[in-house]
Amino acid sequence: MQNSRVLITGGAGFIGSELVRQLVAKGIKQVIVVDNLVNGRRENLQDLPVDQVKLVVADIRDVEQMTNLMLDVDIVFHLACLGVRHSIHSPHENHEVNATATLNLLSAAKATGVNRFVYVSSSEVYGTAKWVPMKEEHPTFPMTVYGASKLAGECYTRAFYETYGYPTVVVRPFNSYGPRCHHEGDSGEVIPKFLLRCMAGKPMIIFGDGTQTRDFTYVSDTARAIMMAGFADSAVGQTINLGSGFEIAINDLAQEIASIVGQADVEIIHEAPRPGDVLRLYAETTKARQLLGFKPEITLREGLMKLKDWYLTSEEYPETLLKHEIVRNWDLSEIKL
Ligand SMILES: NC(=O)c1ccc[n+]([C@@H]2O[C@H](COP(=O)([O-])OP(=O)(O)OC[C@H]3O[C@@H](n4cnc5c(N)ncnc54)[C@H](O)[C@@H]3O)[C@@H](O)[C@H]2O)c1
Repeated sequence: MQNSRVLITGGAGFIGSELVRQLVAKGIKQVIVVDNLVNGRRENLQDLPVDQVKLVVADIRDVEQMTNLMLDVDIVFHLACLGVRHSIHSPHENHEVNATATLNLLSAAKATGVNRFVYVSSSEVYGTAKWVPMKEEHPTFPMTVYGASKLAGECYTRAFYETYGYPTVVVRPFNSYGPRCHHEGDSGEVIPKFLLRCMAGKPMIIFGDGTQTRDFTYVSDTARAIMMAGFADSAVGQTINLGSGFEIAINDLAQEIASIVGQADVEIIHEAPRPGDVLRLYAETTKARQLLGFKPEITLREGLMKLKDWYLTSEEYPETLLKHEIVRNWDLSEIKL
């Protein structure tokens, strides 16, 4: 690892910046981060050594620039994407970034002689679980354009391995949370939104009846598993779930957060379901353990407490951070077709 040069797309984002941090801690020679900062932040990388980490503000859709950046790179970790709520109002742009750009990046990586391409997909490719826990062979039935475009990206990635023998890996993280996660705008996710609202004494808002479930992984675990996928030879050509193997309903998550924040009587409001919401996700994690030697280290309760502490050390109060929250962070009134 000490001699490797890696390129991370989306490396200024939530999971990407944690991956950069972990690679630096392992003594990686150089990390090139490519991010257009549409949802990522320069500040996410600000404490990292400039001789090891170089941020290039660029769009992954720029084929020429991406090809030039890949010269002399050993591994590409491809994380840049536009999210699930974005896909509801802007399906075409979501597809361009998540699917088309992935195909172009694969071509560029192969042409420039990059040794390995790790595609960070998503559990959203499965849609609602038909049975649990969900093995990698579980049918894929995405319910949003985000899930569909992530699935297209992973199919292109797998096809490069099957057709050209190009060494690729597909990992499918289930929901991740932790420092630098998004509470704001259309990237806002359930755990940071619930936690900040609870800390600010505001009601937690659940879309749907709250019986929908997720499998949450703390970000240091998610990023460590992605890093392992870049270096374990047994991962090449494989598709691997990255989850905790622990399922929780959103109603129970709200109660857990209320107990951690010490706001047992906080109000919980149920509103109409989000369009395309997946109702059940619960990972089977054996393959990650066998191929990567990966086992999550942080339980949900520990992770929620860590995130709460991280917010407490933040320079901004929960009330201030929540000014950037969009409660219903999708928009069906202005679909860009
Ligand atoms: N967060 C989760 O719970 C979760 C779960 C499953 C899978 N994933 C996957 O993990 C990866 C990272 O997700 P995240 O949660 O860190 O999201 P994020 O939005 O924080 O990171 C994505 C980054 O990509 C950048 N980006 C978007 N469009 C770009 C473009 N055209 N050119 C260059 N950069 C661009 C954004 O600025 C952002 O920094 C994604 O591929 C996502 O599908 C995330």
